[in-house]
Amino acid sequence: MKRITFLFLTLCIGCLTPTIAQTLTSPNGKLTLTFHLSEAQKPIYSLSYKTKEVIKDSKMGFTLQPHYSFDSGFKVIKTTYSDSNTTWTPVWGENNKIQDNHKEMLIQLVQDKTNWLLNIRFRLFDDGLGFRYEFPVQKNLRHFIIKEENTEFSLTGDHKAFWIPGDYDTNEYPITTSKLSEVAQLIGKVRQESLAAKAPTKSLAIQTPLMLKTADHLYINIHEASLVNYPAMCLNLDDKEYKLTSNLTPDKNGNRGYIQTGSTTPWRTIVVSDDARDILASNLILNLNEPSKIKDTSWIKPTKYIGVWWEYFVGGGSTWAYTDTQDIVIGKTDYTKLKPNGHHGANTKHVEDYIDFAAENGFDAVLVEGWNEGWEDNYAYVKEHIYSFTKAYPDFDVQALHKYAASKGIKIIMHHETTSSVADYERQLPDAFQFMVDNGYSAVKTGYVGPISPRSEYHDGQWMVNHYNRVVETAAQYKIMVDSHEAVRPTGMCRTYPNWVAQESARGTEFESFNGNHPDHTTILPFTRLMGGPMDYTPGIFEGDLSTYGGANKAQLSTTLVKQLALYVTMYSPLQMAADLIQNYRKYPDAFQFIKDVAVDWDHSYILEAEPGDYITIARKAKGKDEWYIGGITDENARKAIIDLSFLPKGQKYQATIYADGKTANWKTNPKSYVISTKKVTSKTVLKPQLAPSGGVAISIKKI
Ligand code: NOJ
Ligand code: CA
Repeated sequence: MKRITFLFLTLCIGCLTPTIAQTLTSPNGKLTLTFHLSEAQKPIYSLSYKTKEVIKDSKMGFTLQPHYSFDSGFKVIKTTYSDSNTTWTPVWGENNKIQDNHKEMLIQLVQDKTNWLLNIRFRLFDDGLGFRYEFPVQKNLRHFIIKEENTEFSLTGDHKAFWIPGDYDTNEYPITTSKLSEVAQLIGKVRQESLAAKAPTKSLAIQTPLMLKTADHLYINIHEASLVNYPAMCLNLDDKEYKLTSNLTPDKNGNRGYIQTGSTTPWRTIVVSDDARDILASNLILNLNEPSKIKDTSWIKPTKYIGVWWEYFVGGGSTWAYTDTQDIVIGKTDYTKLKPNGHHGANTKHVEDYIDFAAENGFDAVLVEGWNEGWEDNYAYVKEHIYSFTKAYPDFDVQALHKYAASKGIKIIMHHETTSSVADYERQLPDAFQFMVDNGYSAVKTGYVGPISPRSEYHDGQWMVNHYNRVVETAAQYKIMVDSHEAVRPTGMCRTYPNWVAQESARGTEFESFNGNHPDHTTILPFTRLMGGPMDYTPGIFEGDLSTYGGANKAQLSTTLVKQLALYVTMYSPLQMAADLIQNYRKYPDAFQFIKDVAVDWDHSYILEAEPGDYITIARKAKGKDEWYIGGITDENARKAIIDLSFLPKGQKYQATIYADGKTANWKTNPKSYVISTKKVTSKTVLKPQLAPSGGVAISIKKI
């Protein structure tokens, strides 16, 4: 690592002219960052890619409570340049090695009138820029409250955007594709489509990760990395100037962040390329996160699972609740005295059937929702103590199931729906985790449906960010893996806590049961939500016509059956569910074979084709095996994928099993039509399968 220090512009101290721009160039020379102080001595940055401007001059800094400007009147004290080129090994991932090659520029500022110090650290990679603010320990500033972060991303035009509305409480919105200038006219309708608890931002705002495409074919992704002790960021949109400005999630007093010096903000990230595939291949966000804080990671295992779950959504009658009695007081109500409703999903016999099926088909685990006391009276969002996380319903025999699962080599995944009663969850957490350890559980799915209690907080505010991080950190002490639903969107923290194996934090498959996902949804998610980390999307629905269950739910899946298979490859996660009911897998055993075979951890990934909103084709090599899996998906338009197998080792013959949409397949009219064929292939083969409207292709390749 080289380190060069400049005592920069000391001559300029006190002067009112803008400083000369300082520049930093990416290792391959394609990206250039510039930084200078404006006439009002405001920090300004800009970014260009090859000959094109990506971010025009954009302001940086803060307003502190009650109204101190901390974004102007600065002097540069010192500028330090360095570079670093290292490789690290993730515990699990899309690739078994990740290169972190970047140049760095650290600008140390002092505000003239206050003597307050502020550092800005820029890291420039070949695939984009990260920068963060650092609040050094200093004499004149110790604690402060952020009123606004004023970071700007000044865009060069009216880009095409893949966006969801700004909201402090939820990211479970459909994703809209439009010009930035069209967001204002569409946002009201999109907000109405969210079924989740929501706290819309007052201004015209959209969330990150935000995917943009310029008229001259630049792909730009804006997000953040390493969200620790700080609120998540939305972006206010100025749709006249095409400027985005950070909008941090406040608490309900309007305070955005409670800061003590000696800390940093998360990194603001801008991934950029003229090839959409590079956006999906980018490791910039992971590289900007701290290395694993967990020393012994041997207990962290990529997991394929089934579960007592989808039956709650299809309208077939199965319930999380044990009884229809409503007036429950947790800790006082004796459930053994209540009349069961007769269709409680998480009963011992039913779970045993799942364990049998998991064992027969090579799964690792079974998720069981609705196992614990409290589901009857959970909907009004007024009670604080809603659930017990240590007491099972009378018909769910924890010990017997532990033994049964262990005898078959299957793990049961614990479920902690908190209904956002977070203070109560924190009180129960040590007992809940100890209960898990005592009963053989090593993974938990958490959930945060509804508004947060304490009422002063939003899902994406600093207090909740600290909560999610604390749960994961505490879980690690008990050797527990975490899959959080309805939590703040991920920012690559799974590098630091590799037991955070997945999150939901966007519309997953559950929204298929509300007709809430569009055919292009999963062609956008990898460019948006997944930029921050793996998603527990829960694919694998074979029976997409929910009217077959005879209930009120008439929803229809937004994909073909084969596209559901392809999602195991295109939606990267070390935690993958086969979400459908066992009976449907029994009906289509040949298609189910792909789900049984597909890996959940990888040596290498190859992004073969990609265009946000249109299509994605990815090939991955299974970790430690000579096996490759390919997934290709398309939006509502049929297309021919071009799958060049040149990533295969040369001179060797392989057998490919191709799961393709049938000739007349169509997500609306004929979703379950598929054809399975086999073919001998080599590194010279190029496959050109036809994908149906909202269809896909899934391929497994094994050595002959
Ligand atoms: C919402 C979650 O996303 C879903 O997976 C879960 O089943 C329900 N909450 C109940 O906890
Ligand atoms: Ca959810």
